[in-house]
Amino acid sequence: MKDAQPKAIYRSEYQPADFEISETRLDFQLFEDHALVKAELQMARREGADAKAPLILHGQELKLLELKVDGGDAEHEIGSETLTVSSVPDRFLLTTLTRIRPQDNTSLEGLYKSQTMFCTQCEAEGFRKITYFLDRPDVMSTYTVRIEAERQRYPVLLSNGNQVDSGVEGDRHWSVWHDPFAKPSYLFALVAGDLEHIADTFTTCSGRSVDLRIYVEEKDLDKCDHAMASLKASMRWDEEVFGREYDLDIFNIVAVDDFNMGAMENKSLNIFNTSCVLANPLTQTDAAFQRVEAVVAHEYFHNWSGNRVTCRDWFQLSLKEGFTVYRDAEFSSDMNSRTVKRIEDVAFLRTAQFAEDAGPMAHPVRPDSFIEISNFYTVTIYEKGAEVVRMLRILLGPQDFRAGSDLYFERHDGQAVTCDDFVNAMEAASGRDLTQFRRWYAQAGTPRVGVEAEWEEDSGRFTLHFSQSCPATPGQEQKEPFVVPVELGLVGEAGGLRLQIEGHADDPDVEDNTTAVIEITEAEQSVTFTNLPEKPVPSLLRGFSSPVKLTFPYQREELALLMRRDADGFCRWDAAQQLAVAVMQDLREGAEEVDQLLLEAYSDVLADTSLDPAMVAEMMRLPGVGYLVELEEQADVHSIFKAREALRIALAQHLQPALLARYRALDIDEPYQASAEQIAHRSLRNTCLAYLSLLGEEGIQLAVEQYESARNMTDQMSALTCVVHNAAMDRAQPLLDAFHSQWQHEALVVNQWLQVQATRPRDGVLEQVRGLMDHPDFDMGNPNKIRSLIGAFCSANPEQFHAADGSGYALLGEIVAELDSRNPQIASRLLTPLTRWRRYSHGQEQMKAVLESLAQRELSRDVFEVVSKSLA
Ligand code: TRP
Ligand code: ZN
Repeated sequence: MKDAQPKAIYRSEYQPADFEISETRLDFQLFEDHALVKAELQMARREGADAKAPLILHGQELKLLELKVDGGDAEHEIGSETLTVSSVPDRFLLTTLTRIRPQDNTSLEGLYKSQTMFCTQCEAEGFRKITYFLDRPDVMSTYTVRIEAERQRYPVLLSNGNQVDSGVEGDRHWSVWHDPFAKPSYLFALVAGDLEHIADTFTTCSGRSVDLRIYVEEKDLDKCDHAMASLKASMRWDEEVFGREYDLDIFNIVAVDDFNMGAMENKSLNIFNTSCVLANPLTQTDAAFQRVEAVVAHEYFHNWSGNRVTCRDWFQLSLKEGFTVYRDAEFSSDMNSRTVKRIEDVAFLRTAQFAEDAGPMAHPVRPDSFIEISNFYTVTIYEKGAEVVRMLRILLGPQDFRAGSDLYFERHDGQAVTCDDFVNAMEAASGRDLTQFRRWYAQAGTPRVGVEAEWEEDSGRFTLHFSQSCPATPGQEQKEPFVVPVELGLVGEAGGLRLQIEGHADDPDVEDNTTAVIEITEAEQSVTFTNLPEKPVPSLLRGFSSPVKLTFPYQREELALLMRRDADGFCRWDAAQQLAVAVMQDLREGAEEVDQLLLEAYSDVLADTSLDPAMVAEMMRLPGVGYLVELEEQADVHSIFKAREALRIALAQHLQPALLARYRALDIDEPYQASAEQIAHRSLRNTCLAYLSLLGEEGIQLAVEQYESARNMTDQMSALTCVVHNAAMDRAQPLLDAFHSQWQHEALVVNQWLQVQATRPRDGVLEQVRGLMDHPDFDMGNPNKIRSLIGAFCSANPEQFHAADGSGYALLGEIVAELDSRNPQIASRLLTPLTRWRRYSHGQEQMKAVLESLAQRELSRDVFEVVSKSLA
């Protein structure tokens, strides 16, 4: 058992720091078994702070070698996570010299080594592992940084801002960087390594030229063009859509292999996981290309939403993350298909975020407390946070929303602020009272919206009765009603009907008034549409206008009608999903045949050549097991999996000739491009192949042929997946071996090779995963490898992870126990599937037992918080 249990900290206890740091000068001397960090901090007592308050700095795993206040000795005390200087004047220069060991830092936060390179990750609280500091986002300072290292091993030395000096001394060299923008410590970055780069320039809207560079290992120079193109597109887009211009003369991206997350927005020195920057058609799939585009944009957009305007404290994390995810989603929508992007985002939100909101880790978009902030980089903060911003845009309309955004940036440039400041700006710019809307920040849980319809044939009146409620979440028993914008239309046999809402004058400006936004603000509320020529089918929550679980008692014929006729692409897709859920339910209840209505509706979708092929692919894809689990209080994974497989096979059999015909027709001759059009073609073609490969030898043969003739990783990987997931292992193994020997020198491809094996939904996969953990290409120190093998097995192979004998849970327990002391952030994240243990009809006791045995151990704060909340 642990001796001292970690304690929660509370948003309500926020106090500004007693001291400010106007200027920070750092000097790094990098050696092979340690580094020396000299810090000179220009400090002042904050106006209004207690005149006697001691200086308490954060620091972890540091060896203090020297401390001076204004050049003289000062009494101080070193705690396990703090340094206290009991008596200091109101203004002073604090000088410290500390020794750290980046080489031994396996947590990948602070200063650490990734392969041969030194790099940093300071968000959220990693800077305190570099030097003693006020490591909190509301303490902002300008930085001047000197880096000195061996010239041969580390020819490239980088930090934030501009290089202002450099020089050589024997076999060592040094470089000095100055960042003129005051920033919080979490945005500090340093890189030293043997790197090559590609360069480009961007001319901003006011005519300034910015030097852009992407730094990688030499062997990856051929994989940088897509990231560079994405960066330039993001810079232009932010000027045009949000009026945001870049503010320095230089913007650098560095790719590192060992990284806990996707990427980090350090001021002018973004550090990226290689998986989010490298893209070459031969080695990366279309999905990876799109991820690179989105992450490059996300980090770039943080320069305004996060850096120029930052967070007051970490409870406000969604202020920057929710807003920036909203911004990157809008960017991706403009670059590719808006509807397809929306469908992908909603599918993810409904699976991962709804599950989080329904489990023991549920928290509001602006949490009230946490034990370890690293655990709060969640789908709720990011994706639900983005949905909240999106609702503001729906409620305010595009003009007022943009005015609110402009006002927010103007009011708060250079400040560390709160989610409330953001809503205040939206309120001021629009003149709208957002008091009730603020509940989206305060209340956790996914609201339920039930809808019922009443049709009056004689008068042509159609009434929708809405009711909303929200289930209890930890610490929040009762919820108040939310503001729920429900965008809707009414669909007749021939398509969308004109909307006239009772009590509302017809808006003469709106030509196409077939869609409306109804704001549900009460627990129960109704709206009546008049003068309708026929009984309509309501198309509800168009574009998924709010993050709620909406239910309407549709007839299957009505869902089929929406699939064919709805003007809203999201609702067409959602109707297909709902129909599939209903038919899978039939199968689970013993039906022997698949409802003909579904087969015909899906057949029409597949035949519809007027639809964007990417959209057809989305509509053909059945709801995932994770989503289906989320729909039930107590889910039986195996019964869900079986029904889903049965439906997939029935669809493949019924549609075989059509699948084969579209497969053949979609063959692309042109050279690879990551264009929306080509990606759409490959996506549908590979969706057809996935169905065909369920039909036995003929389909498998087709996949093998595609594997052998593939000229890009998307087609090669799709074919490999079909064979590995659907054929016998003796058929799959030769392909896996060939793939490995072809790509063994490409780390990111080897990760895909691990992942395709870990997600094989067949018996024996657990032994395979255990075997791969001993493979020379696996590495417990590398988060990407852990995610590809173990993360994928535990969260993307539900059928096998939930094996009845509990072997999947046991594996996860062993790995978390081993990993926790090495990299607590990754250990904690891996545990997510086990936090949901109460939601399964089988295996509850086994999952709980794994959590309980972890609870007996000495744990990091990260894993302690997840384990203890899951068992509470
Ligand atoms: N701010 C980063 C982002 O853009 C998140 C991030 C990167 C992070 N690395 C991290 C958060 C390490 C915690 C720990 O989303
Ligand atoms: Zn971010």
